[in-house]
Amino acid sequence: MSESSANTSNINGKVAWKSPSNIAIVKYWGKYGNQLPRNTSLSFTLSNAFTITSVAYHPKESSGIDIDFTFEGSRNKAFEQRIVRFLDSIAKELPFLYDYHLEIASENSFPHSSGIASSASAMSALCMCLCDIDSQIHHKENIDIQFASHLSRLGSGSASRSVIPFFGLWGHHNDIPNSSNEYAIEMTEVHDVFRTYHDDILIVSAKEKSVSSSAGHQLMEGNVFADNRYQQANDRIIELLEILKKGDVDRFGKLAEDEALTLHALMMCSDPSYILMEPNTIEMINRIRAFRKKSSLPVYFTLDAGPNIHLLYPNHIESEVNKWINAELLELTADGKIIKDKVGNGPEKII
Ligand code: PMV
Repeated sequence: MSESSANTSNINGKVAWKSPSNIAIVKYWGKYGNQLPRNTSLSFTLSNAFTITSVAYHPKESSGIDIDFTFEGSRNKAFEQRIVRFLDSIAKELPFLYDYHLEIASENSFPHSSGIASSASAMSALCMCLCDIDSQIHHKENIDIQFASHLSRLGSGSASRSVIPFFGLWGHHNDIPNSSNEYAIEMTEVHDVFRTYHDDILIVSAKEKSVSSSAGHQLMEGNVFADNRYQQANDRIIELLEILKKGDVDRFGKLAEDEALTLHALMMCSDPSYILMEPNTIEMINRIRAFRKKSSLPVYFTLDAGPNIHLLYPNHIESEVNKWINAELLELTADGKIIKDKVGNGPEKII
């Protein structure tokens, strides 16, 4: 046993958590230091795109991180090595990691190659398990969500927001009390219309991205628009908070689209430049805008760092939107792939 964890109980146990992905409305793009964001971001937590992770823990004598990792039932050495490096990097904050052998098993609700980034759900599910184990062996009553968000952030920046119910804000903002670069916090002044909002994820391509998010964040360091972008994001956060309070779905949608296109514009003017949208991404955007004009329904889109369209709309127009998706958008997806998702209330304990 390491000195720092001498007071822990010498117990075996098992925990499991289900944790969702999230979709940012104001995007985090650009980071510094140890996973600290260059600007404040705000997302909503999803319901149906999630990871379930279980961790069984057994005391051990040997030193160092020692895990077995299975992904969807099979040993996965590449993921295992990534997790070992991550656990080693956070072991000074969770010394029990050196004292226990961990059997970690993880699975996603969405197909692995569906084009959905799984790092936010995967990292937050793992960190909820680690915080739960820490509470059990130290006989603490509750899990500290702030700490879980902080650990998740160290695994993947956007994962910090996945442990937050509904709307999560990450990154220090001078005008937002308690905001922090270290962890996300919940934004609670949200109109009811946004608490049942839809995000239908239309899969344009399930192929692996040509440029990873980490490389994209890195390229922001040399981007001539970087400073203006960070200022713009911080201004848009204030506007978004006002929109969320008022329940203005059209301003919400416009801001989401502006942010999505800004993110992709930043990629296009990086050096080297790159494009993650596909021809069908642009075609869908045109069809969404034409449908909105014709129907006057508040249907808007956002994009992650990839080609897939996230269709955002309020619950009360679900049936009209579904009919139109089937008639006009489904043919532009990869093999009819669509993940119908909604705002959700964060991680859930399974065991
Ligand atoms: O968490 P990362 O490093 O994979 O970065 C995610 C960045 C975006 O998804 C594009 C935006 C965001 O805020 O989630």
